[in-house]
Amino acid sequence: MNESPSTSVKRGMWSSRLAFILAATGSAVGLGNIWKFPYITGENGGGAFVLVYLLCIAAVGVPIMMAEVLIGRRGGHSPVRSIQLITERDGANPAWRWLAAVGVLAAFLILSFYSVIGGWAMSYVGTAATGQLAGQTADEIGAIFTGLLGSPATLLLWHTVFMALVMLVVAKGVRFGLERAVSILMPALFVLLLLVVGYAMTTGFFGQAVAFLFQPDFSKLTTSGVLVALGHAFFTLSLGMAVMMAYGSYLPKNISIAKTSLTVSVMDTGVALLAGLAIFPIVFANGLEPGAGPGLIFQTLPLAFGQMPLGSLFGTLFFVLLVFAAWTSGISLLEPLVEWLEERKGMNRLMSTLTAGIACWAVGIASILSLNLWSDFAPLGMFGMFEGKTIFDLLDFFTANILLPLGGLMVAVFAGWVMTRETLEQELSMSPAAFSLWYRTLRYFAPVAVAVVFVYNLV
Ligand code: PHE
Repeated sequence: MNESPSTSVKRGMWSSRLAFILAATGSAVGLGNIWKFPYITGENGGGAFVLVYLLCIAAVGVPIMMAEVLIGRRGGHSPVRSIQLITERDGANPAWRWLAAVGVLAAFLILSFYSVIGGWAMSYVGTAATGQLAGQTADEIGAIFTGLLGSPATLLLWHTVFMALVMLVVAKGVRFGLERAVSILMPALFVLLLLVVGYAMTTGFFGQAVAFLFQPDFSKLTTSGVLVALGHAFFTLSLGMAVMMAYGSYLPKNISIAKTSLTVSVMDTGVALLAGLAIFPIVFANGLEPGAGPGLIFQTLPLAFGQMPLGSLFGTLFFVLLVFAAWTSGISLLEPLVEWLEERKGMNRLMSTLTAGIACWAVGIASILSLNLWSDFAPLGMFGMFEGKTIFDLLDFFTANILLPLGGLMVAVFAGWVMTRETLEQELSMSPAAFSLWYRTLRYFAPVAVAVVFVYNLV
């Protein structure tokens, strides 16, 4: 076998296995876990949805994450270039590089609205710090949130600050400071989530929340719910858009791809489940609606902080950490496009960061307006399935439920059917039994599962 090209190119490497795990976890753990997972679980009826989601993580997400990291490390360059190098070497069709292009597009679109939600979290730092949550009723907390959505100027301000922070780090090169920041902030976020779970246990509704999350009632699960669960498995693990490929390209050769991918997935899932356990007891205790939609955490967690001792302090800390979690994910969303501009257009790091960041910021304005001035504007409303969906809803739907699974499907096919088995074995260096389990899942189960869910949703 040929040497991987990455060995012949001088390129920075993660300093250790832990460093990669931290960076990948920083990308994976974000708004998807704390903001999105609880609200889609609420909208899709709880237990059965959670079960399908967990299955998607284990049987589709983890194998595809391994494949993505492997492709990145094998290629040793930006995702587009890595795939091109692999196709050249393995004599495959160069059109496969479009696979990475789909990913770069998805990441760009996601960041445009992700930054807006990151802005919500930022605005809540101030709300909590100034004691505005203390002792408020559910209605008053709801009014704070409605007030935020109704103010395009405030949303724009925070969207701008969030995007600027992301650009700042990306312009300096992704690995700058990221490892250290994540190694402190992730555990801190975990502890604060545990604290809220502890509070949630005192509400008297913890049992009901556990039952809601873990007792599957399949009568509540719809085919579109299955698609949402699958799409979210990709979203939350940062898969299907070349992000893990980009990060994998910095992974030293002697590190186990399987173990690292598994660790990242377990931590990511743990944070999501904890968020669910923190939020649903508060939902039930206050007679709120589990299916309240994207505002769910902003209408529930503030209630907990308003009632618990030292709530303003913990609330502030919590939202600060949520902003950091969103920030590290945002960085990983901008990175693939910036790398691509550098390589393809020959721009320097600063110019490519500015170009990509500002473009993304501008697209984000459409999401801001669809929360207020354009809230009745449903561009694709003439198609039944998109009825009433705003630009923001459409972006979320199109990326998470279409582009990411499609990207993941292509990763599975590319790694499973195009790359040679020797290459894969060499990169993974696992026991033969484990390898064959992974290989089969990647070649057969994952692509078929994604295709079936797609077809069912189209007909
Ligand atoms: N995984 C991140 C989250 O759950 C979002 C993300 C998606 C980040 C895709 C990078 C790539 O919030």
